[in-house]
Amino acid sequence: MAKDWSASQYLKFEAERTQPARDLLSRVPLSSPKRVVDLGCGPANSTALLVEKFPNASVSGMDSSPDMIKMAKQVLPSVPFEVADLETYQPDGQVDLFYSNAVFQWIPGTKRIPLFQSLLGKLPSGGVFAFQVPDNLAEPSHAAMREAAFTPGTPWVETLTRAAPGRDDFPTAVELYDALQPLASEIQIWRTTYYHTLENHEAIVEWVKGTGLRPYVDPLSPEQKAGFLEEYLARLRQVYQSQGDGKVLLPYPRLFMVAVKA
Ligand SMILES: C[S@@+](CC[C@H](N)C(=O)[O-])C[C@H]1O[C@@H](n2cnc3c(N)ncnc32)[C@H](O)[C@@H]1O
Repeated sequence: MAKDWSASQYLKFEAERTQPARDLLSRVPLSSPKRVVDLGCGPANSTALLVEKFPNASVSGMDSSPDMIKMAKQVLPSVPFEVADLETYQPDGQVDLFYSNAVFQWIPGTKRIPLFQSLLGKLPSGGVFAFQVPDNLAEPSHAAMREAAFTPGTPWVETLTRAAPGRDDFPTAVELYDALQPLASEIQIWRTTYYHTLENHEAIVEWVKGTGLRPYVDPLSPEQKAGFLEEYLARLRQVYQSQGDGKVLLPYPRLFMVAVKA
């Protein structure tokens, strides 16, 4: 069974992780939806934005991680949250806005487009499906992760070769458009690169430990994990320069899509 997410590790960079959620929400063309669902709500940082923007809506959240849902219930006790898997999730009743921040990159590649079509298909005319995903697999942070993982002769290479921790490429904007356009009256797609100011290179490791590094470190023993993280950090020092004040800028591209149901 896959190891659970850690809400506390994820929230170490709460402000940076929530900014794209705000930016996504600012382009949702709805003023008073009745029912809103936060898909992959995590520790409710994204759900809190939905509650604030739509105070009269019935807002709920779902996530496959028990640790995330536990935290979400503590943060927003009056909001209904449930542990559920997006691959099998069926909302009860009609939903006007499916909103999802930084989640669909975790769905297996072949299942993403059918899931997007199914979600958009469930909405009433004028309903909105909005999501954002990191678009960073080609970034040095992730190239260094792969290089450190698969360096021949290391104590962890066999374990990680068996575990195959890499993620599938996300559909391109062109593929998304063609897949969803038959169901939509309007589609907005955009890509933004955030430059996150991190204290040092160790902070990049802490950042990805909460998300993209999990499939790489979860299968490792404590000794393998320590060696792998040391190798990864050394590679990060080579590919990201320190700024004049010693901090490190982490470029972080993200892909956004907002589709209105026809
Ligand atoms: C990067 S966090 C995003 C949390 C929050 N939406 C935010 O804006 O920060 C990704 C979340 O997706 C959830 N997730 C991953 N795969 C999932 C699936 N198949 N079904 C439901 N949730 C999933 C994880 O448990 C995690 O909480």
